[in-house]
Amino acid sequence: MLVEKNVALQPYNTFGIVARAHTLVRVAQEVDVQAVLADPLLAAQPKFVLGGGSNIVLTGDVRPLVLKVEVMGRRLVGETAQAWIVQAGAGENWHDLVGWTLAQGWPGLENLALIPGTVGAAPVQNIGAYGVELQDRFESLDALDLTTGRRFALDAAQCGFGYRDSVFKHAPGQPSGHDAHKSLGLAGRALITQVRLALPKRWRPVLGYLDLEKKIAESGVRQPSPQQIYQWVCEIRAAKLPDPQVIGNAGSFFKNPTVTPEQCADIIAREPRIVHYQLANGTVKLAAGWLIDACGWKGKSVGNAGVYEKQALVLVNRHGATGGEVMTLARAIQTSVYERFGIRLEPEPVVV
Ligand code: EPU
Repeated sequence: MLVEKNVALQPYNTFGIVARAHTLVRVAQEVDVQAVLADPLLAAQPKFVLGGGSNIVLTGDVRPLVLKVEVMGRRLVGETAQAWIVQAGAGENWHDLVGWTLAQGWPGLENLALIPGTVGAAPVQNIGAYGVELQDRFESLDALDLTTGRRFALDAAQCGFGYRDSVFKHAPGQPSGHDAHKSLGLAGRALITQVRLALPKRWRPVLGYLDLEKKIAESGVRQPSPQQIYQWVCEIRAAKLPDPQVIGNAGSFFKNPTVTPEQCADIIAREPRIVHYQLANGTVKLAAGWLIDACGWKGKSVGNAGVYEKQALVLVNRHGATGGEVMTLARAIQTSVYERFGIRLEPEPVVV
């Protein structure tokens, strides 16, 4: 085990924020975690698990011991009548996994193409795009208990998936997910090592999303292949979302809020053009990007942090932004959306 001190984290967070880890250990195998726990000094420290760094805002140097997940490997581990079961190491790049599964002839992840980050981070925030969420393709995962070093497996119910949410985003003792009484938080308590996905043998395209419907209309392709959808999703994302390699960002900065039908009717009466979607459970989801845009934030900046010109839901690092500047901008946006619409926006990334 190599214990690195004073490690620059700028290359390890997609916002490109300058910060340092006091202590960092790379986890390529389970034994790396067990070695940390066998060391009395390291074992006693609080832990911060770092994946692809695509959903975090660093507001300063990280004092807890950073465990950087670099577990690699991907393979078919099983097959049922319904699905191919594919397992990938938590340190694998998510988008590469999507491309690889398609190339192997196991479709199902195409709507989730080009999402930045690692495989291990995918369940943490239950990544989702264009009508598919990770939980729709999830089979199970392996994780290590950061107190004992023991491996345990969790199925979907145990992960407590919700909209951009899971047990891994909640601190111990803090309930999460739909099964609030059962799922207790695992943030800082568990390190995901392997993720298993169930990719349906009877593949059906998921095309309900407006941007994909537009692609069908434009192209005239009525029955797109998985590769075609993959291509379209990459095009849509490239047109709307900044490439973190070029301009630092963490994807959508806020979750799309849900309101009751009564609240929505009230808002529509005042703002007839508000973009909203009816959900199956009777509530209504509002487009946070639209709300922020309507408050005039698109293209604006606070210090070196800004609101992306093409999608107001994405905050960007214009150059050398600190986590503090990003959070100041985020709070200013929350205040103006609350003052105008009475809606509290909840950040999507984890603020460290
Ligand atoms: N809109 C505006 N102005 C804006 C931005 C959006 O009017 O500045 C309107 C759009 O015209 C559209 C609606 O808001 O009618 C929704 O926008 P979009 O289709 O871009 O999707 P989104 O709701 O902003 C969500 C996810 C994305 C995901 C896309 C596609 C959240 C928080 N975000 O964005 O996920 O890629 O849908 O499924 O749920 C992420 O989580 O990091 C992420 C990028």
